[in-house]
Amino acid sequence: MISQYLSLLALPVLAAAQKCSLQFDGRIPSNLTLAAFDSNNNIYNPSNVFGKGLKFSELLQLPAVAGSLFDTKTVPVEVTISDASIFAPSADNVQTGFRRAELLPASNSGTDASTLGVKTLHFSLMQDPQRPLNLTHEYQLVFLESADFSTNQLVLKTGTIIGSTDGVDPNTLQLFGNVNANPPQVLFSTPFTPGVFNNFAVTLDFNNLTSQVFFSTGKSPLKPVTQAISNDVSGQGQFHFGMLKKPIDGGNDIVHNGTQEDGIDEGIIYGGIFEEDSSTGCISLCA
Ligand SMILES: *[C@@H]1O[C@H](CO)[C@@H](O)[C@H](O)[C@H]1NC(C)=O
Ligand SMILES: *[C@@H]1O[C@H](CO)[C@@H](O)[C@H](O)[C@H]1NC(C)=O
Ligand SMILES: *[C@@H]1O[C@H](CO)[C@@H](O)[C@H](O)[C@H]1NC(C)=O
Ligand SMILES: *[C@@H]1O[C@H](CO)[C@@H](O)[C@H](O)[C@H]1NC(C)=O
Repeated sequence: MISQYLSLLALPVLAAAQKCSLQFDGRIPSNLTLAAFDSNNNIYNPSNVFGKGLKFSELLQLPAVAGSLFDTKTVPVEVTISDASIFAPSADNVQTGFRRAELLPASNSGTDASTLGVKTLHFSLMQDPQRPLNLTHEYQLVFLESADFSTNQLVLKTGTIIGSTDGVDPNTLQLFGNVNANPPQVLFSTPFTPGVFNNFAVTLDFNNLTSQVFFSTGKSPLKPVTQAISNDVSGQGQFHFGMLKKPIDGGNDIVHNGTQEDGIDEGIIYGGIFEEDSSTGCISLCA
């Protein structure tokens, strides 16, 4: 992997190819079978998050699309949701308001080093024209949920954000900072360009509590699109890659209440998921 040192002040790229050390690698070897996602595979947690009674091999796909910017030897994976995507973390907490399925990196326990120091999270995502989203709903497509489940310190959303009155086109990727901020801050937003991977990297400084966003589409190298923005990323937790579809008219209890129409067959294709150590300023901008 070729990468480049960037000044943490986001001055133009300085130089030097450098391989950043990895915290976790969520890229999928091309010989991994769907069945391998159902048991320990050292890439993703086989037990969470998906509808009660399902398993990952029933909801993941290995689509025949070219790899993302950072998938030079690895392959994309598609996460899908259906009417059965009702997660029940416990018998008395059946999340009937949501339809959801998300991959969690195997090593990301919630208290591991992926949410300490200075790390850069990478992910790419692409629409599946065969399984379009219903943009009347709000979706979370990537998020960091704190270890005490009290907030998301970082969350990529699309669709119609519940409660928003800003008139943003629902086919937009909006990367929010900590959703407990009042109001939550949009760190970066961009049209959700179809037919290509939309590539993100976010440098998360868990010491100084900042986030800096990098973005590109297709095979173009990432470019910084923000400075390091003040954002409360404390509280550790777990990274989720997949779809959390929120209901319409859920009132004050969107987890359990509100409307989800039947016949859901929706998917998002993910590639190039990994996290690297940026404590020395190392950030990969291309493979
Ligand atoms: C995939 O290929 C790698 C190396 O080419 C090999 O080490 C690994 O065992 C293979 N995995 C499976 C599940 O076949
Ligand atoms: C999209 O969601 C809205 C709100 O739930 C619903 O009225 C509409 O029928 C849905 N569209 C499709 C194609 O399912
Ligand atoms: C973190 O904050 C300290 C104190 O304000 C500052 O000296 C340091 O340069 C900051 N580090 C980064 C990486 O921004
Ligand atoms: C559930 O949603 C309905 C509207 O769809 C709303 O009137 C009601 O207050 C909500 N219940 C809760 C507990 O939020």
